[in-house]
Amino acid sequence: MTDITDITDTADITDITDITTAGSFQFGDRTVNRLGYGAMQLAGPGVFGPPKDRDAALVVLREAVASGVNHIDTSDFYGPHVTNELIREALYPYPHDLVIVTKVGAVRGEDASWNPAMTPAELTRAVHDNLRNLGLDVLDVVNLRMMGDGHGPSEGSIEAPLTALAELQRQGLIRRLGLSNVTQTQVEQGRGIAAIVCVQNLYNLAHRDDDALIDHLAIAGIAYVPFFPLGGFTPLQSSTLSDVAARLGATPMQVALAWLLRRAPNVLLIPGTSSLDHLRENLAAAQLALPEAVRADLDTIGQTAR
Ligand SMILES: NC(=O)c1ccc[n+]([C@@H]2O[C@H](COP(=O)([O-])OP(=O)(O)OC[C@H]3O[C@@H](n4cnc5c(N)ncnc54)[C@H](OP(=O)(O)O)[C@@H]3O)[C@@H](O)[C@H]2O)c1
Repeated sequence: MTDITDITDTADITDITDITTAGSFQFGDRTVNRLGYGAMQLAGPGVFGPPKDRDAALVVLREAVASGVNHIDTSDFYGPHVTNELIREALYPYPHDLVIVTKVGAVRGEDASWNPAMTPAELTRAVHDNLRNLGLDVLDVVNLRMMGDGHGPSEGSIEAPLTALAELQRQGLIRRLGLSNVTQTQVEQGRGIAAIVCVQNLYNLAHRDDDALIDHLAIAGIAYVPFFPLGGFTPLQSSTLSDVAARLGATPMQVALAWLLRRAPNVLLIPGTSSLDHLRENLAAAQLALPEAVRADLDTIGQTAR
């Protein structure tokens, strides 16, 4: 696990990025760089259908891995199937150190809607869909994605669906399990059913509901993987963020990612983009130093958003 003091102070972040400066994290029995990549943005508009530029999507995936990314987040419900098929086409046979994390618990309607799919039969089908479309015999990490209130969790037992996934893990189809869109109570219930290696919830500079959960998971050695680290479909906009970025000679998105890297050592990043320029910009955040005074300014963004 990397302490924030391990992160190199580098004024010039325009050079070729060494993302290992952001540190690594022990993810079950695998080690991943803390800067990863979220593949959801590669599907068509509304995460539905094919991308507008398939070749560009393949280039983004290949460049991410060539730059040292060894943690990619996906799901077979992105597209559906589209994102996993792109990952397979771009990267198969996969590098030995690549950890592909997927999620199950929903299916897409023909109208692009997101619908819960939590029965054992639906979860089994989702695991097999991921295996087939990624071209794998076993999935590295599968997150059980609870529907909650959409992008926020709501309380309720996760026993039945997680027990079903634990059974698929026992059958050898899944190496590790994680949870998504869950409360701390649900995390603790889940840990009583199976070993949990990661939690994926909505969190960024402006949405800090999970501050206590992050610290709780850090003590337990469980990765916290924020989704919408840049604000999601409407990327973060804040005059404070822009001012800090200008002072540091960086972009607001780089500052938002650098802040997350320093939030806690168990925070792993999966910023999403369909753009090669944005990918390079985001990975360069690995080398952005954030002075203490700047971090205090950035903390005010979350306080005013509350
Ligand atoms: N567990 C869950 O329920 C859940 C939910 C949502 C997402 N996820 C995962 O989390 C990953 C990250 O979330 P996300 O992709 O939705 O949101 P995000 O990373 O917060 O932001 C992505 C958005 O920011 C834009 N962007 C990226 N880099 C940028 C840059 N340097 N400058 C300006 N704009 C930039 C992207 O557009 P461009 O394509 O134009 O760059 C896209 O619109 C997803 O890819 C997915 O794997 C999980």
